[in-house]
Amino acid sequence: MPEISNITIIGAGLMGHGISQIFASRGYPVTLMDLNHDLLSSALKNIRSNLAVMADNNIGTHSEIESVISRIKTTTDMVEAIVKADFVVEAVSENLDLKQKVFRELDSLSRHDTILATNTSVISITEIASKSKFRERIVGTHFWNPPYLIPLVEVVRGDNTSDETMDKAFSLLKSVGKHPVRVNRDVPGFVANRLQHALWREAISIVEKGIADAATVDECVKYGFGLRLPVLAPMENADMVGTDLTFAIHDYILKHLENSPAPSPLLKKMVEEGNLGFKSGRGFQEWPSEKAEESRKRLQKYLLGVIKEGDQL
Ligand SMILES: NC(=O)c1ccc[n+]([C@@H]2O[C@H](COP(=O)([O-])OP(=O)(O)OC[C@H]3O[C@@H](n4cnc5c(N)ncnc54)[C@H](O)[C@@H]3O)[C@@H](O)[C@H]2O)c1
Repeated sequence: MPEISNITIIGAGLMGHGISQIFASRGYPVTLMDLNHDLLSSALKNIRSNLAVMADNNIGTHSEIESVISRIKTTTDMVEAIVKADFVVEAVSENLDLKQKVFRELDSLSRHDTILATNTSVISITEIASKSKFRERIVGTHFWNPPYLIPLVEVVRGDNTSDETMDKAFSLLKSVGKHPVRVNRDVPGFVANRLQHALWREAISIVEKGIADAATVDECVKYGFGLRLPVLAPMENADMVGTDLTFAIHDYILKHLENSPAPSPLLKKMVEEGNLGFKSGRGFQEWPSEKAEESRKRLQKYLLGVIKEGDQL
């Protein structure tokens, strides 16, 4: 496989624009492809605005913004997008048929040694690759939103992914300042979404059963064990308190925890009634637009602080 010089991102939406920004900020020429020019211009506008907020917070400078943007070429043409690519990240909408179609095209139009990565959140890498011929160069690279601020990228091995593809993807992501981790088996939700949604299922169940309201559930995390999580995640924490205590707690409590294989009826009802959270103003809690905006800003400020401190976790 060649050294990686040219990066292509397919899909310029929420994730695709941020992923392009990561590579262009580190000096890579990037080709960003989407279905029409309006989507591509708004992606560049979003990148400019992200970089300006970062510069306001002393991460990069305002004077660098235009040179980052100048490294991003946009196109609506798949052949043009792929012709020079050494590494492609697919970030189109989360739909198996669409992703299989895009990968079939990428597989037939690219050089056979181009690495093809998918940013799917939960779909099997092996299924996405199943309609392609050269499957050993197809890999999952699961970035988190916003991808230019959250360090983690799960590098997921599909059933046919080669060691060389895993290693190249891992090294590239590390070289652009991300924190890649290897996921050795292609299971739904990979690692981080399995953990995240195990917690969300229990949180929703606690609200549904009237044990505590939604704000209280969040307070228990934010003012309690959530404070430890960035420095002491579950496996290290289990060792710190002792596997004997962990065993004793699980022996007593696991039978009482939520284990439904289906989404909660409360959650289903909320969706049916149009209570969709920030976007409708009401979810588990009330979200007038100023309060929702304040929450987004608080998250951004926190993540900018984490980036400034560097990878010391
Ligand atoms: N939004 C998140 O928080 C998040 C986090 C991690 C991973 N992901 C995953 O990243 C992927 C993209 O998600 P998103 O939130 O950026 O979606 P999005 O809807 O914001 O963007 C998807 C983009 O893909 C484009 N697209 C659709 N078909 C295309 C095609 N054939 N060729 C080129 N472009 C095409 C759309 O026009 C759109 O601009 C999904 O697989 C999603 O599951 C999302």
